[in-house]
Amino acid sequence: MSTVRQFVVGNWKMNGTRASLAEIDAVRSGIGGVACDVGICPPATLIAAATERARGAALMIGGQDCHTAAGGAHTGDVSAEMIADAGGTLVVVGHSERRTDHDEDDALVRAKAEAGWRAGLLVILCIGETEAQRRAGETLAVLSSQLEGSVPDGSSAENLVVAYEPVWAIGTGLTASNDDIREAHAHIRTELVARFGEAAAGIRLLYGGSVKPGNAGEILPLANVDGALVGGASLKAADFLGIIAAAG
Ligand code: PGA
Repeated sequence: MSTVRQFVVGNWKMNGTRASLAEIDAVRSGIGGVACDVGICPPATLIAAATERARGAALMIGGQDCHTAAGGAHTGDVSAEMIADAGGTLVVVGHSERRTDHDEDDALVRAKAEAGWRAGLLVILCIGETEAQRRAGETLAVLSSQLEGSVPDGSSAENLVVAYEPVWAIGTGLTASNDDIREAHAHIRTELVARFGEAAAGIRLLYGGSVKPGNAGEILPLANVDGALVGGASLKAADFLGIIAAAG
C-alpha cells in the first residue's frame, strides 16, 4: 500500500461540454470524507467553469497540457498562467497522446513542466512504454530515459507527480499485470530517489491505463502506486467515484 495520501485524477481528454459540469457537481457531492486527494482535468474550455463548481470542495481542477511560454503568438495554445488564472491548480504534461499526436519530445515535456511550476501549478508528468518497446524488453530503459529527459531538476513531492501509463494500456481496456506495475513503479521510485534523494519517496506515482472501478481495488494497493490517472472511466461521476472509493 502507498505510504502517502493517494491521488486520483480524471483526464477528460477532448471530451466534455458545459452539460458535463453536472459530473463535476456529482463528484463534488460524492467525495466528502474520502481518504485520497482528487483532481479533474477537463478540456481547457471548461477549466474556469469547473473551478467555480469545485469551489470550496477538496477537488482540484487542472489542464491537460500547457505551452512553455506565458503568452505570445502561439495560435491555439494555452499557457500554464492561463490555466492558473482560470482557477486551475494542476497541469498534465507529457501525456502519450501529446507525445504522439504533437511530436512532443522529452526536452519539450521538461520545459512544459517548468512552465507549470512557473505558474504555481502541480505538475503531473506522464511516461510509459509502447507495446513494441515492451515486447523488445526495453520497458525499464525507456522509463529511465524518459525520466532523465523530461523530469526537471528541482522536482519534489510538493511540485511533481509522475504518472506511469503504458501506451498500449491507454483506452484499450488492457491493463498491465500487477507484477508489471510493481516492477515499473519500483524502478521509477529508485530512479527518482537516486536523483533527488530520499525525499523523492514522497513523489506520488500514479498508474494510468484502463483503470476502472472493477480493477482499481487490485491496482491501487500495489507497492509504490500512489493513485491513478483515469481517462475513460473519469467521464461519468459514478465510475470515477467507484475508483476513488478504492483509494486510501
Ligand atoms: P484510459 O486513459 O483510462 O482511458 O485508459 C488513461 C489516460 O490516458 O490518462
